Amino acid sequence: LEAIEKAVHRDIHKMRAFVRFRKIGEGADERYVAWFEPDHFIVERNADFFVRRFTGMRWTILTPLASADWDGERLAIGPGAARRDAPAQDDAEALWRTYFENIFNPARLKVKAMQKEMPKKYWRNLPEASLIPDLIAGADGAASAMIDRMPTSPAPHHAKVKAKHWPTPEPADVVAPEAEDIPELREEAKGCRRCPLWRDATQTVFGEGPDNAFVIFVGEQPGDQEDLAGKPFIGPAGKVFDSILDDAEIDRRKVYVTNAVKHFKFEPRGKRRIHSKPNAGEIQACRWWLDKELDLIKPNLVVALGATAAQSLLGKAVPITKMRGDVVEREDGLRVFLTIHPSFILRIRDQEDKEAEKERFLRDMRKVRELMGS
Ligand code: URA
Ligand code: SF4
Repeated sequence: LEAIEKAVHRDIHKMRAFVRFRKIGEGADERYVAWFEPDHFIVERNADFFVRRFTGMRWTILTPLASADWDGERLAIGPGAARRDAPAQDDAEALWRTYFENIFNPARLKVKAMQKEMPKKYWRNLPEASLIPDLIAGADGAASAMIDRMPTSPAPHHAKVKAKHWPTPEPADVVAPEAEDIPELREEAKGCRRCPLWRDATQTVFGEGPDNAFVIFVGEQPGDQEDLAGKPFIGPAGKVFDSILDDAEIDRRKVYVTNAVKHFKFEPRGKRRIHSKPNAGEIQACRWWLDKELDLIKPNLVVALGATAAQSLLGKAVPITKMRGDVVEREDGLRVFLTIHPSFILRIRDQEDKEAEKERFLRDMRKVRELMGS
């Protein structure tokens, strides 16, 4: 059953990624028709997605067993059709090909992964697919040429200069169909350029832990050491976090740990890089990844460590000190436990206050352990 469920989900994603509409008619008669061959009975189930995405268009998706038609106001599910019922060409074809040629990155080409994402059976309905063999054949040469054109990178503390010389970021959310597991998602996130933070950081620091974890801990963003190591919560805040988890008898190896923002944001000061808070736009941009981690892992509970995580998970700023220890349930049913960020403990100077705060955090973690299993 799980295998079937997975196959159906995959089919639904493929349909969203690979349906290509062709325009027919002009002016008042203008409409868009696509031909698609799903493996499962997903047309009706998927139709709402297309209604939301293409509300302003009149469109029809034809498949062998069912069709979906949107006239701008009403959705109708009808009988199946034949491939010849759908138009084969339109003026947008050349545009698709130009677009695909431009977003194609020869240095990131992995033929196996690509064929897994875009199996050949879809090719004959994709205008851009005719380019694929040539692009693959030319990829090695194109990648070397690209490397030759690259500026050499200056030292990290000249990051501001470096930024100006980098190529224009490519859009991150086009064509790439959705990752189906955490390793695939982590791979995709390596090339993320959804916000400017990738430029000065060393690498994307993605979440870590088992993909069937009951609980996900969400921090703010990687720090200096995490940026260099590529792993979340391994620096000073991570040490505090680890030791308190240990005291609360939560096994870090059994939980998934990630951050709201996956690139280190800092201000250079001499040779040091000083942590700088991500802004609302960056948090919003990076939610793309966090949402997918939540989606794939489907935890029982999420723990927001600090204000940034809470803002990302709840979509708005919340007063952490007032709400710590609370569990907030989102509309989608996800339970979010709110607490402070462990670096808050690090910053307390007074020893007594520090111990008291550690104790409170420990109490929070014990509560988390109870909630994890329920
Ligand atoms: N602080 C965070 O929020 N995340 C890390 O990964 C490290 C420090
Ligand atoms: Fe992408 Fe997040 Fe890095 Fe911005 S911080 S580039 S959204 S991974």
